[in-house]
Amino acid sequence: MDYDARAQQKLLSLMENKSCTLLAIETSCDETAAAVVKDGKTVLSNAVYSQVELHKKFGGVVPELASRSHVEKLTPTVNLALSEARLGFCDLDAVAVTARPGLVGALLTGVNYAKGLAYGLMLPLVGVDHILGHIAANYITSPELEPPFVCLAVSGGHSHLYLVESYTKLTLLGRTRDDAAGEAFDKVARVLGLGYPGGPALEALAAKGGEAGIVFPSQFNEGPGLDFSFSGLKTAVINYLLNAKQKGETPANEDIALAFEKNITSVLIHKTIAAAKLTASKKIALAGGVCANKRLRLGMAQAASEAGLNFFCPSFDLSTDNAAMIGAAGYFCLMDGRRDGLDLNASSK
Ligand code: KG4
Ligand code: ZN
Repeated sequence: MDYDARAQQKLLSLMENKSCTLLAIETSCDETAAAVVKDGKTVLSNAVYSQVELHKKFGGVVPELASRSHVEKLTPTVNLALSEARLGFCDLDAVAVTARPGLVGALLTGVNYAKGLAYGLMLPLVGVDHILGHIAANYITSPELEPPFVCLAVSGGHSHLYLVESYTKLTLLGRTRDDAAGEAFDKVARVLGLGYPGGPALEALAAKGGEAGIVFPSQFNEGPGLDFSFSGLKTAVINYLLNAKQKGETPANEDIALAFEKNITSVLIHKTIAAAKLTASKKIALAGGVCANKRLRLGMAQAASEAGLNFFCPSFDLSTDNAAMIGAAGYFCLMDGRRDGLDLNASSK
C-alpha cells in the first residue's frame, strides 16, 4: 500500500476511535517548538526553543537566521518533546505542523520535517493555520470550553476578531486595517528605546508608569465597526516624543508606555465586548502572544464579568508561540476528516 492509502486508512481509524497521540511542530517565526498532544486537549510534552538571543542584536527577527536556526534545532526539539512525553516515534498516530501564516522560509523547515516524518512513519499529516492554533490553546487551558464563542486573536501579525463557530470554522468579524496589536507594541517599544521582543518589555516599563495626564487619541477606533487601526496610535506616540523634545521637555518613558498600553488594551476590550453583543455570544476568549499582557487579560476578564459573559484565556506558557496549540488544532482538523498530502506547502498568508 502506498503512503496515501496507509495515511487515509489510519485517519479513518483515528476518527472512529476519536483518539490520537499527535506530534506537533511549530516553526512559523522565531520559536522552534515541538509537542506531543493526546486527544486534542492533553499535553504530554511541550518543548520550545526560543531564538530571542539570536535576533536580539538586530532588534527584530532576521528571517534567514530564523530558518537556519530551525533547521539546527528541530531534531533536538522533537527528541526532547518525545522524551518528555516518555514516548517513541512508533507511539505516534499523526503529525501536525504549522503551514501558514508566517515567514515562508521558517515555515518550510517545519513543513518539510513533518512531511519526512509522516512519510517515514506512514502516518496522517495535517497542515495547521497558526491562528487556529492560538485559538485552540484555549481548549487545553479550559477543556470545558466549546464553540461557539467570540475570540480576539492578537499577535505580532494579527488583530482579528472571530466568531469561532466550530473547532475548525472561524468567521471573521473584524480585523486591523494596518498594524497588528503586537506590531504596535513592538514598534512603540522600539521608539521608547526598548529591545526586542518589545511587547513584554513595554509591559514591564508601563508597570512602573503613573498618571501623568498623557492621553493618546482613540478616534481611529471609535464608531460601531469591529475593525481596528493602530498605526495612528503609533504615530501619536512618536509625535508626542518629538513635540516634547522640541519644547525641551523630558517626559518619563514609563508614563508614555502606560498611556499607550491603556489606550490599546481598552480598544481591544471594547471591540471584543461589542462583537459578543453583536453575535449574541455568551463566551469570549483571547488568543495570541499579546494575550500574555496582564492589563489586557485582567481588563477583559473584568469587562466580561460586567457584561455577564464567560471569559477564557490560555495560560501564560500557551499564549505565545508553542507547538501544543498546533497539536490541539491539528487534532480537531483530523477529526473533521482533514489531512494533507506530501505536496503540503507553506504560505505566508
Ligand atoms: O503569537 P506570538 O508569540 O507570535 C506571533 O504569532 O506573532 O506573538 C508575538 C507578539 C509580539 O508582537 C510580542 O511583542 C507580543 O506578542 N507580546 C506582548 C506580550 N508578550 C508578547 N505584547 C504585549 N504584552 C506582552 N506581555
Ligand atoms: Zn503566534
